[in-house]
Amino acid sequence: MEQLKAIILAAGKSKRMKTKTPKILHPLMGKPMIDYVLETCNKVGIDEAILVVGHEREKVMDYLGERVKYALQEDQMGTGHAVMQAMPLLEDFSGNVIILCGDMPLFSPGTLANFISLHRESESRVSLLTAIMKDPGKLGRIVRNKDGSVEKIVEAVDATPDELKINEVNTGTYIFDADYLREILPTIGLPNVQKEIYLTDTIAISREVGEKIFAMSCPDYRESLGVNSRADMAKASKVIRERINHDLMMSGVTIYDPDNTYVEETVEIGNDTVILPGCMILGKTVIGSNCVIGPNSRINNSKIGRGSIVNESVLNETEVGEDNQIGPFAHMRSGSKTDRLVKVGNFVETKKSTIGEDTKISHLSYVGDATVGKHVNIGAGTITCNYDGERKHPTLIRDNVFIGSNTSLIAPVILGEGARTGAGAVVRKDIPDWTLAVGRPARNIKKLKMPEDG
Ligand code: UD1
Ligand code: CA
Repeated sequence: MEQLKAIILAAGKSKRMKTKTPKILHPLMGKPMIDYVLETCNKVGIDEAILVVGHEREKVMDYLGERVKYALQEDQMGTGHAVMQAMPLLEDFSGNVIILCGDMPLFSPGTLANFISLHRESESRVSLLTAIMKDPGKLGRIVRNKDGSVEKIVEAVDATPDELKINEVNTGTYIFDADYLREILPTIGLPNVQKEIYLTDTIAISREVGEKIFAMSCPDYRESLGVNSRADMAKASKVIRERINHDLMMSGVTIYDPDNTYVEETVEIGNDTVILPGCMILGKTVIGSNCVIGPNSRINNSKIGRGSIVNESVLNETEVGEDNQIGPFAHMRSGSKTDRLVKVGNFVETKKSTIGEDTKISHLSYVGDATVGKHVNIGAGTITCNYDGERKHPTLIRDNVFIGSNTSLIAPVILGEGARTGAGAVVRKDIPDWTLAVGRPARNIKKLKMPEDG
């Protein structure tokens, strides 16, 4: 089949974003906008992408590296001028060229693939992707003849009141035969002669010279949303979120309230898992089947074993084993790892700690830099005092240990197998296997001065 290359326009200034970051690098559901465009290009078999860059191009080039070729548009003199800057990179190319906008992340691979194959079937040398919408605002209008063929595109600023009523718009997506594009570009204007060179003018000119123009309209106009502001970002994110949640539901995940569930595309979730409202599940998180997650939990780059419950909790870079019970209100920080049947209960914080099978940390504890064995019970309020102000020290708690409430474990310290501590113990020395450590009883009972009346 004929080769297909893409020119992606992304040199514009994006004033409305009020940002120092190039617009196309702003993330939607955790992924920069331009990645959506490039991934879709890959999926539809585009052989090479040329990105037209201008504003803040260093940051764009730093991020994308060699994933694309770059054409520089020094001054933003319009979409036609932008395409002209890419042409030197297509000098010997005679396949098809698809023109896309870097700020339109929502075209589905299906829609673009369809557009490409219909263009090929149509045997036109120029094709347009249009969209039909109720409120076309500032978008260019597609003017058709009585027979339905495309006559021209009028920009909203240049349109007559009647033309403004047209609700079929230009999505800014075209396919040209490369030789034809080379032929027609010089006819739409010369730099510096007019203020802006419109790529859209290629359509009216094609019509005039009797060229057949093929047009396909998007099945869902929302795919053609261009992101020009933070408000548009929110709209686009919503569409992406809906797609991700839909796919998850189709794969057997229950989502109580998809409008209130934020799962990034990189996340994997097993079937029969239930996601309750208010969750953000991010990064490379992998959740097994038969879990219950949420409500209101944030889970980033973590693994949750099958059958576990994560209730109103925050987990980062944590590995939770199977059939665990986490939360409510647990905070498991980077490097936490639990075995099967572990309980990390309310107001428990863990960090860089391994917790063995069937161990319970049910309430109000901090477990950091610790290795905890199997069948351990850690009483409420137990703290690993891991930091001496300069360095972090480890705590080792062997199997079958029972720690009384409010024990302070001053690290580095080892609690031997089956060891016990009394409530309120302050443990400064290692405790041998099967021994009990008690300390700091409130022995001295002193009389207090009574408050004076009045
Ligand atoms: C353009 C179309 C309009 C269409 C709309 C869809 C023209 C004249 N008009 O509108 O019919 O409905 O897109 O969004 O083509 N860009 C450059 N260099 C420039 C100008 C723009 O790279 O000199 C890039 C922008 O970064 C953006 C894309 O081209 O990615 C579209 O530019 P934008 O200004 O948003 O579109 P309009 O020209 O208003
Ligand atoms: Ca413009």
